[in-house]
Amino acid sequence: MDYLIQELFDSSSNKDLIQRLKSDQSGWEDGKKTAGTHAAQVKNNLQLARESRQAIESSQEIIKKITTDQLLKSFTLPKRVHGLLFTRSTTGQGYGMHIDNAYMNSGRSDLSFTLFLSDPDKYEGGALCIQTLQGNKKIKLKAGHIVIYPSTSLHSVETVTSGERLVCVGWIESYVASNEDRNILFTLDAGARGLLAQHGRSPELDLIFQSYSNLLRRLGN
Ligand code: NI
Repeated sequence: MDYLIQELFDSSSNKDLIQRLKSDQSGWEDGKKTAGTHAAQVKNNLQLARESRQAIESSQEIIKKITTDQLLKSFTLPKRVHGLLFTRSTTGQGYGMHIDNAYMNSGRSDLSFTLFLSDPDKYEGGALCIQTLQGNKKIKLKAGHIVIYPSTSLHSVETVTSGERLVCVGWIESYVASNEDRNILFTLDAGARGLLAQHGRSPELDLIFQSYSNLLRRLGN
């Protein structure tokens, strides 16, 4: 599996989060400030200053959600969730095709995510496009839903043609840097957990969990 989509906030907690973010009127600034050298030429949006109280509090809330969700934890094996940025794009704004920096001040980027906060009916365009071998995959999610994908992929954000697109983007440094290794662990964990749910504990399942843990020790860093 290349990417994972999941609801992170239900409708009412998502609305509450948006309200708090928008209440910070002085914190929104030009997005070119944080783009890498190559990306600076294609980035065009507004973002909430990382040091603002609102950005810090909301980031902590999102990080907690990601690191306590069983499926997301199993998929990402998070060592550090970092670099969270709240961005707002209005008509004419987008983000051209680019690759995220491998190392940031806040950590290594193994996985990238976009948490869609705006209701998709309230803006046109603004889909995240991820380049895959099968062509560009367009992703535009319901409010409160997150997509997590490998940082090794080229991606872009379609130009917004009406309304406003508010999202939170961020990165995950994983205990397992390789996508391939992480995917093997993910399916093994999913299979073992499925068996546990259906049949309960067994000595055979203990052996599978033992192998999972020992494989994670070998593949992790
Ligand atoms: Ni990016």
